[in-house]
Amino acid sequence: MAPLLLLLLLLVRTISAALVVQCGNVLDPGTLSTVLRPAIHVAQSFLHGNCSHNQALDDNVLRIATWPTYANISSEMTVTLHLIGYGYGLPLCASDPAQRAEWYNRLARLTGYEIVMNRPVPFLVPRDYLGFSVAGAGLTLSPPEGRLLSQPQASTAAYGHFRSWETLQLAVPAAPGLLSSNLSLAGCPAPYLARTQTSRHRIIAAKGLTVVSDVDDTLRQSEIWDFRRGLQRTFLYPFTPWASMPKAFAQWHARIPDTHFHYTSDVPETSHEYYVNGLTQWYPPGTYDFRAIDVSTYAELMNSRYWNVRRLMETFPQRRFILLGDTSTATNMEAYGRLAKEYPDQVQCIILRNVDATVPANWGRPNLSLLPADKLILFNVSTELYRKRMLNVLEDIASGELSGCGGLQTGTAGMDVGGWWSGIQSYATAAWRLNMCWMLCEGRPDKQRCAFDRTERKFKVEK
Ligand SMILES: *[C@@H]1O[C@H](CO)[C@@H](O)[C@H](O)[C@H]1NC(C)=O
Ligand SMILES: *[C@@H]1O[C@H](CO)[C@@H](O)[C@H](O)[C@H]1NC(C)=O
Ligand SMILES: *[C@@H]1O[C@H](CO)[C@@H](O)[C@H](O)[C@H]1NC(C)=O
Ligand SMILES: *[C@@H]1O[C@H](CO)[C@@H](O)[C@H](O)[C@H]1NC(C)=O
Ligand SMILES: *[C@@H]1O[C@H](CO)[C@@H](O)[C@H](O)[C@H]1NC(C)=O
Repeated sequence: MAPLLLLLLLLVRTISAALVVQCGNVLDPGTLSTVLRPAIHVAQSFLHGNCSHNQALDDNVLRIATWPTYANISSEMTVTLHLIGYGYGLPLCASDPAQRAEWYNRLARLTGYEIVMNRPVPFLVPRDYLGFSVAGAGLTLSPPEGRLLSQPQASTAAYGHFRSWETLQLAVPAAPGLLSSNLSLAGCPAPYLARTQTSRHRIIAAKGLTVVSDVDDTLRQSEIWDFRRGLQRTFLYPFTPWASMPKAFAQWHARIPDTHFHYTSDVPETSHEYYVNGLTQWYPPGTYDFRAIDVSTYAELMNSRYWNVRRLMETFPQRRFILLGDTSTATNMEAYGRLAKEYPDQVQCIILRNVDATVPANWGRPNLSLLPADKLILFNVSTELYRKRMLNVLEDIASGELSGCGGLQTGTAGMDVGGWWSGIQSYATAAWRLNMCWMLCEGRPDKQRCAFDRTERKFKVEK
């Protein structure tokens, strides 16, 4: 299901990319955008309504979207930070509240949700979806306590995206903590005005424990196995944590205070605001990675989770990693399996939520044979993650005393490991249910007959 959702989100992003502010020379975005162009025009009218293609950017302000990233200590007085984000502008016609409410109403009706939103949308909306891309702009970084060895070499690509490594010479010895800098776009012609954005970088120590976590259906209730509800949860509902995961993370954080939490998702970067705000509200502070809107690297676009976590591991070669996710997300299995094989000393333990145990509606058949059974813990309910033994094991891994999952590994716990059959089974089940549920039509059969609507089983919680 994730690929479908992704395609939709990418499509949405591509539409906004059709509206471009050109600040310099940009390389051709390639065949992918050409192929998607017809779909862009269909979706364009759906999203923008009367906000036309040629319409100027009303307030002429160019903005930067970025989110907290990590930095390593490269020598006593220097840090190397990961600079990532995209440049965009917001046309007033797209951000018109009446237009936006209408957009939400359309989505609500399409997903069979009977609401009419005449009031402002009650939570933060991913308004960047409706922006102009700023292509070919340079970047200026002004760190507070220190000086930059050189100004960023990066510039925004065709879809407004930028990514680079920047080395900062500090005035004081580098220590773990948060570093805030001012970031803005440069080189765009008048009358455009570049607005300064604070970019936050978390300096992480060379040694210690990093918890890499998936977000959807691990930390957040997203129900991506149900296309209709997945859309509602992503666009219409506020961020809702899954079960008592906030408590689990709070306890991990309390027990090992210098744990680095890194949150990764396969959603496109345009959703960063919703994810970062929700995670900040419920979980310990950390750093983030999303699917980059970078159509120049096909591998990263398709396997963003693998490349993002790999980049993190190479930046901190001495840190030990715990990879957390769930069995309904196929990319968890692929990426985590590959990373465990390629970085066996760094990947200590893979902890996956067994979605099947609580959600009868889940149709994804995980390919568990991709994962090392001796480094795998499957859990059913979130309370299992803050039992005493689990906390002890994490502490021992963090201190370097223990390797692997410290005897808590469950292997595949008797679950069908999947193999080549898993993909076919998943898609056959999904197609059949899609057919039975008429999921996007209003006249579909009553809920009892729809396998997608089966609710979560209640588990007796053990102490
Ligand atoms: C879009 O349409 C609405 C009415 O449907 C109108 O009030 C508004 O001015 C239009 N906006 C633009 C930018 O044309
Ligand atoms: C960053 O920007 C803010 C407001 O625009 C300004 O007050 C501050 O001095 C800037 N900091 C640096 C280091 O340039
Ligand atoms: C810091 O990260 C950069 C970029 O990944 C890497 O090239 C460098 O080796 C790292 N430095 C240390 C001291 O690990
Ligand atoms: C987890 O759920 C599975 C059913 O999918 C069950 O066989 C297993 O015993 C459960 N494990 C625990 C620890 O409750
Ligand atoms: C599942 O993993 C095995 C490797 O363990 C691989 O041979 C097989 O092709 C995978 N199946 C799918 C559907 O990806």
